[in-house]
Amino acid sequence: MSKVTRRTALGLAAAVPMFAIGKGAHADPLILKFSHVVTPDAPKGKAALLFKQLAEKYTGGKVSVEVYPNSSLYKDKEELEALQLGSVQFLAPSVSKFGPLGVKEFDVFDLPFLMSDETHARAMMASPMMDLFNKKLEDKGVTPLAYWDNGPQLYTANVPLIMPDDFRGLKMRIQGSKVLDAVARQLGALPQIIAFGELYQALQTGVVDGEDNVASNISTQKLYDVQKNLTVSNHSRLTYSLITNKKFWDGLPADVRPGLDRAVKETTAFFNDTAAKDNETAMGTIKASGKTEIHLLTDDEKKAWIAKLMPVHKEMEGRFGKEFIAQIYKASGFVPPQS
Ligand code: SIN
Repeated sequence: MSKVTRRTALGLAAAVPMFAIGKGAHADPLILKFSHVVTPDAPKGKAALLFKQLAEKYTGGKVSVEVYPNSSLYKDKEELEALQLGSVQFLAPSVSKFGPLGVKEFDVFDLPFLMSDETHARAMMASPMMDLFNKKLEDKGVTPLAYWDNGPQLYTANVPLIMPDDFRGLKMRIQGSKVLDAVARQLGALPQIIAFGELYQALQTGVVDGEDNVASNISTQKLYDVQKNLTVSNHSRLTYSLITNKKFWDGLPADVRPGLDRAVKETTAFFNDTAAKDNETAMGTIKASGKTEIHLLTDDEKKAWIAKLMPVHKEMEGRFGKEFIAQIYKASGFVPPQS
């Protein structure tokens, strides 16, 4: 479908009166769509189902939430376009995919080792700097409702990835951010943006050789079927933002919005409590599959990875400004290693 035709199709869907809540005693519920790209049993999939349940309960049935998992409604890039057009009301994409919205700042979340543990990630998400990120989204007609930390990212491939040189010449799938592109290039790999819904097949058919992801995605997508090696590199984190269309959100009736606010809050608590547990269980599943060899980086190997990848921070000063990157370090509590 051409871009114009696809936009038109999305626009037509948006013409459905999303603010029209009937006034009669038996008014039809407002239908709200929540689209995502993972399986229903991944942390985001479970959170979407919980949100549906809570939103319907706390609004007394005034809304009905339809959840579309597994990229069944939209893929990575088109779901953002659909949200801006009002064809879908809720998404929870990885912030590494916000580039097409015209918001480049979120790419800094991918700076290698910036948020390699939960403490740094939570500090970042709780910092006043998030107001700046939020404003960037609002300017694009997108309201961020919450941030969800899905845990540390691990690399997978069909060769052992022990030292940075092991990436040389590999075709690596990336999510889309310019920082991830720079990371792959710095490792001597060839980055390729591929939608999450196409990842398994791309790995299976050799379109790409490897990728990075959280354990729960590697497990629920069964990537271990097509990847012989996994390195526990913890080089970055997978951060989601639960987002909605600003016009839709601001225009919600006063007897609906508080119920949805409450559902967002409780779903966020659930997500942030669930992700780490699911990653742990997923590592067990991957191990038990017997198909993927797991390597834990030693301290020396980790040092070599950090030394190799810190120049990406320097390179990105050209894109984001030295001062902005310094502010990010402060917000997340990251202390760059002395070289
Ligand atoms: C997701 O968890 O939403 C997808 C992450 C990815 O694209 O790798």
